Amino acid sequence: MKTKPLSQDPGSKRYAYRVNKEENRKELKHVKIDETTLPKKSNGKKSSLMELPKKRFYRQRAHSNPFSDHQLEYPKSPSDMDWSRLYPYYKDESTGKMTNKVTIADIGCGFGGLLIDLSPKFPQDLILGMEIRVQVTNYVEDRIIALRNNNVTKQGYQNINVLRGNAMKFLPNFFEKGQLNKMFFCFPDPHFKQRKHKARIVTTTLLSEYAYVLKEGEGVVYTITDVEDLHLWMVKHLEAHPLFERLDEEWEKNDECVQIMRNATEEGKKVERKKGAKYIACFRRISNPEIII
Ligand SMILES: C[S@@+](CC[C@H](N)C(=O)[O-])C[C@H]1O[C@@H](n2cnc3c(N)ncnc32)[C@H](O)[C@@H]1O
Repeated sequence: MKTKPLSQDPGSKRYAYRVNKEENRKELKHVKIDETTLPKKSNGKKSSLMELPKKRFYRQRAHSNPFSDHQLEYPKSPSDMDWSRLYPYYKDESTGKMTNKVTIADIGCGFGGLLIDLSPKFPQDLILGMEIRVQVTNYVEDRIIALRNNNVTKQGYQNINVLRGNAMKFLPNFFEKGQLNKMFFCFPDPHFKQRKHKARIVTTTLLSEYAYVLKEGEGVVYTITDVEDLHLWMVKHLEAHPLFERLDEEWEKNDECVQIMRNATEEGKKVERKKGAKYIACFRRISNPEIII
């Protein structure tokens, strides 16, 4: 007889953990976390610390097919997106409008390390991780809920959040033209086999979408990988695209985000532990060329 995976076996620790976290997530995911939402201890007093989620309880397959229909929810257009559900702290209660916009996106954010390290460095920016895998997204949501809760007095981590989504399909549904200042592609899935290259997150068609959502003349695409072949592929496609130009090593050396992305993400840390190579390439979204009639 086939046994159920631990995540579906009501007697397992993983099942109980997930159920508990899901209840917590449902309750706190969209609310503004402040002193009133702090969890109660068994003695009825408010406790200030919430345990950070444990990665081992969120295991799932390493890859998710970016071409399958994941029944994802996405807005019809950016104006239909209610960002206050992800960043309630930035909703102006008197006007009902958001005070800040999402300007930084971490595509395929994995377990969220980059979001967390960027958060205090960019307090005026809302930072969004987009992640296709359900359990990984749940982990990042739980991590952010706990961090917001544990840093409630200094309003920490209110400017980061994660969305389950397929960045290869719906980016223009979420972001207006020119909305983003920075897009990160940290250790994207390499899809080694030639017939799988079309699943890579950097292709000519997708670059045109990234150029659309990035700020003209200013937006930057950051890439980092430990796979040389993928690095060369990303550089080749970005260099061939008419709306991107490569930033030089001097620029990389002086850019704060390049330093952060080297070691902030979980993959980056793994590569560091194994003393593997890290290949970086950054590109500016240049201004649209003038059309001369
Ligand atoms: C190798 S991991 C890197 C994660 C993270 N950036 C890091 O450096 O630790 C690649 C991540 O991209 C996610 N991903 C792959 N294709 C995606 C897509 N089309 N949209 C959103 N996320 C995607 C995967 O689920 C995975 O978590």
